[in-house]
Amino acid sequence: MAGSSPRMAINGARGRMGREILALIEADSRQGTCALAIDQSTPPGEISSMAADLVIDFSSPQGLTRICQILAKHPLPLLSGTTGLDASHERLLRALSRKAPVLWTSNTSLGIAALKKALRSLKMLGEFDFHVEEIHHKKKVDAPSGTARTLQQELTSLKLKNLSSPVSLRAGGVPGLHRVWAIGENEWLCFEHMAFNRKLFAQGALQLALLLYRRPPGFYSVEDLLG
Ligand SMILES: NC(=O)c1ccc[n+]([C@@H]2O[C@H](COP(=O)([O-])OP(=O)(O)OC[C@H]3O[C@@H](n4cnc5c(N)ncnc54)[C@H](OP(=O)(O)O)[C@@H]3O)[C@@H](O)[C@H]2O)c1
Repeated sequence: MAGSSPRMAINGARGRMGREILALIEADSRQGTCALAIDQSTPPGEISSMAADLVIDFSSPQGLTRICQILAKHPLPLLSGTTGLDASHERLLRALSRKAPVLWTSNTSLGIAALKKALRSLKMLGEFDFHVEEIHHKKKVDAPSGTARTLQQELTSLKLKNLSSPVSLRAGGVPGLHRVWAIGENEWLCFEHMAFNRKLFAQGALQLALLLYRRPPGFYSVEDLLG
């Protein structure tokens, strides 16, 4: 499609994130239009024959497996924010990325993208104790959150000596709080990211989708797309 408003299929369309994305594109069609709202009951034939420019997936690990299996035969660009994945999901995403552009990210917020860059400055605090903490609403299934795992991986890549495992709390309706602590003998430093609502993630997903869908096949990160 030549225009700048891609036709999007939303996998997990009836979920919290799916509904946020649909609300945004219904309010402003310049960000995209809905080609198909996919849920568990959508027949595979309807998905493989849909007229869409890309698929946005915020579903479940099972939902991601299903859409990847369909896209393996009918490739389309895929942006997935589904968390709680394992190595089998990564294999499916990587296989699809040989045929179409694919982005998987545990967090579509631009603030978290900036936080990941800022964490690299912690390397100079080599003797401190490091610690990732997250709080989410009670309905969140996976723990630690995908974002906490990503932040932990960033810290691990810095080869810090004293890095403990992430700590998770499930309470109330919190859309997402992440903290990264660096604690020394006489001072501490704390990076905090607070999502006020899910609109932030939906908005970020649409921004990233616009950058992704005309790229050549490949496995992209948020950093690749934002530069
Ligand atoms: N990357 C990010 O920035 C970000 C931000 C927020 C959330 N997330 C992640 O995104 C995912 C969805 O979050 P959510 O809060 O929207 O969850 P949710 O409200 O539980 O919605 C998930 C939706 O996926 C549907 N689904 C499950 N299996 C499916 C399948 N096989 N095919 C199609 N649809 C299927 C569910 O349908 P039913 O209702 O019929 O079961 C449900 O509507 C989670 O993994 C969450 O951690 C990521």
